[in-house]
Amino acid sequence: MQREKISTTYLVYADSDLVGFFSLSMGCITSDSVKKLSLEIEDPPNKYPALLLARMAIKDGMRSQGVGREMLKRVFALAFRLTERIGCRFVKVDAKKDSKTIRFYKKYGGFIRITENSDTIQMVVDINKIDTTE
Ligand SMILES: CC(C)(COP(=O)(O)OP(=O)(O)OC[C@H]1O[C@@H](n2cnc3c(N)ncnc32)[C@H](O)[C@@H]1OP(=O)(O)O)[C@@H](O)C(=O)NCCC(=O)NCCS
Repeated sequence: MQREKISTTYLVYADSDLVGFFSLSMGCITSDSVKKLSLEIEDPPNKYPALLLARMAIKDGMRSQGVGREMLKRVFALAFRLTERIGCRFVKVDAKKDSKTIRFYKKYGGFIRITENSDTIQMVVDINKIDTTE
């Protein structure tokens, strides 16, 4: 995927142990799917640019220790840097249909569910609403 420029993967180490990874791609979301967010944009586009958090996982035994939260902060930092150069209004994730996973994205990332298919729930966070005070 990296070689083909489909996604870029970031590895997370604790000392020399690989404990997790996340992968990012360009993405977009239709304006219909974010209607309930009531964005106040004059002349809204049909599609919004988004950074897609394509994959994310922490090694078994290292979960629930705050690594995932730190990873989300890095993803958001990258999204902020992107918006200085190209348009990017949302961060999007196709979250696994698992209540703990959904809660994680909601609680620690401010993601809101927008659509759903048989395997995943699409969730987005508006970059303008990300809390940067922490
Ligand atoms: C989801 C995941 C990336 C979160 O990373 P993490 O380092 O475990 O999360 P943090 O320690 O920063 O935050 C802990 C929260 O994550 C939640 N969590 C979500 N999935 C979890 C899992 N499989 N195991 C343990 N905790 C999980 C915990 O319930 C906890 O919530 P709480 O604070 O309300 O109790 C990680 O648990 C994981 O890799 N899960 C399996 C793969 C996966 O679901 N990836 C996402 C695919 S869309």
